[in-house]
This record gives sequence, C-alpha cells and structure tokens, in this order.
Amino acid sequence: MPESAANIARNEKLRQRLQFYEDLGLAPFYRDRSSSSSQSVQPHWPASLSDSASQIMKESPLPKSAPMTPATTSRSVAPLGSSGPLLFDAANKLSTETLLQIRDDLGECTRCKLHGTRHTIVFGDGNPKAQLIFVGEGPGADEDAQGLPFVGRAGKLLTQMIEAMGLNRRDVYICNVVKCRPPGNRQPEPDEVAACSPFLFRQLDSIKPKVIVCLGATAFQTLLQTNRSISHYRGQWLDYRGFKMLPTYHPAYLLRNPAAKADVWKDLQKVMAELGLEVKKKAK
Ligand code: URA
Repeated sequence: MPESAANIARNEKLRQRLQFYEDLGLAPFYRDRSSSSSQSVQPHWPASLSDSASQIMKESPLPKSAPMTPATTSRSVAPLGSSGPLLFDAANKLSTETLLQIRDDLGECTRCKLHGTRHTIVFGDGNPKAQLIFVGEGPGADEDAQGLPFVGRAGKLLTQMIEAMGLNRRDVYICNVVKCRPPGNRQPEPDEVAACSPFLFRQLDSIKPKVIVCLGATAFQTLLQTNRSISHYRGQWLDYRGFKMLPTYHPAYLLRNPAAKADVWKDLQKVMAELGLEVKKKAK
C-alpha cells in the first residue's frame, strides 16, 4: 500500500530530528535508551513537555535577588564608548509595562530606514511570563513574511533546540534586536540598532526572565554595549543589568557549521541547570 503523505511528512520530521541529535553527538541515546554509558547528557524526548519543564515555565518569574556572582560578568567586558556611562545601568525591575503596551508604542514604526523595505514588524513571540528569553539579530525573509521570529530554517533549528531542552516554543519568549528585516539579511547597522534596541530592553524589563540567551554576536554586543567578539564569552554566564545572560552561537551559524552544535548544546545544558530543568549526568 502506498505510504500516505502524512506518514511521509512525519517520517521526514523524525529523520530531521534524529539528524539534529546525531549532530549533537547524542545518537547512541536514541539507538539504545536503556544504555547510560555512551554520552554524558540525555535530552528529553522533545515531542512532549516534561512535567518539570512545564511547571517551571508556568511559575511566575522569581523576584530578582542579590547580584549574581558569575565567573565572568559584564564588568570585564569593555563597553562601547568607554568614556560615558552605559545607557542603562540597572534593569527596570519595577517596570509594569506590558508587552502589548510596548507593541502599541512601537506602532507602525518609521524610526529607522528599515521601515522602508520591511513587510511586517516582527515584535516577538511566546510567553509574556517566560523565565527564558532567546534574543536573535533581526528577522529574515520568512519572518518578514509571517510576522513571527525564527520561523525559517534557522528558526526550525532553534525550535529543535528548545524542544531538546524539554520545552516548547510557547514556554519561552523569542525576539530580536531589530524588529524589521535588514535588506538582503545584512547585519543591522548601528543607527538601526540604536533606534530599535530600546524596545528590546523594554521587552526584557517587562518579562523579567530568569535567563536571557543571546543568539549570536549582535544580541550579545547590543545587550552588553560592547564591540568585543562573542567567541571569548560564548557559554559563559554574564550579567545584563541584573539578569543572567548567556551568549551562544546563532542557529544560522550552526546551519553553516554543524560541528558547533555540540558547543551550543553544552551551553543550553547550563541554562537548563539554571532553570531547574532535568539535566541527566552520565552514570559512573
Ligand atoms: N535570524 C534572527 O536573528 N532572527 C530571526 O527571527 C530569524 C533569523
């Protein structure tokens, strides 16, 4: 009997998912789930949200406590324009602004030249009370067409990463430094970042996440107000105005350099541990 289109699509999705884990070096887990000897970490089966994951994401964000003591903090990263103070030196912990209010304020934005070529403003998507936020660079063609962040090829990879953490896209919040697509997917220019990033800062203040993951250099450099390369800071806990922040590679980079997926998976395990999500250690 010929295979139905639905079956073919399902099998292809499964194949892609297995390929993703294979790339992470986790293939043995799927070949033999009872074996604990072949890799250090088992991700949750991504199709379902684990109880612990769903619980933590349902909780309202924890109040921010004393400053964290990360191995490396933003204080060791030279800010851009070292003569002046940072634009924002502390998170607006008292912000009661809602995402809707911030979106209203953004309006049909014409604050920078990107408005001339965009089709849709891509504000952000996900849980307004998320404990985990992913920040990317800016929308690509698919995002510009659909009005949602990370829905193209890189977005599919990000979705797989989120599911490998035992979470679902709707549990986290996803947004970008700039809300309009830079033409030809070029990097956003400094004036565009300057015009748009205050909306990102307000989104972060509104959500008050426990962890911010910066996807790639633009997000890292914008939040830390630095021009330093992400490569020295990838995978390290940093401080962004009192929020715990961890920079990692952008999914688009991973599409070009699949070998780097293992590093990103290590970074995401740190995030999982911080959020109290189950990270299974290798049995001795
Ligand atoms: N790349 C990004 O940085 N953001 C998106 O939303 C999509 C691709």
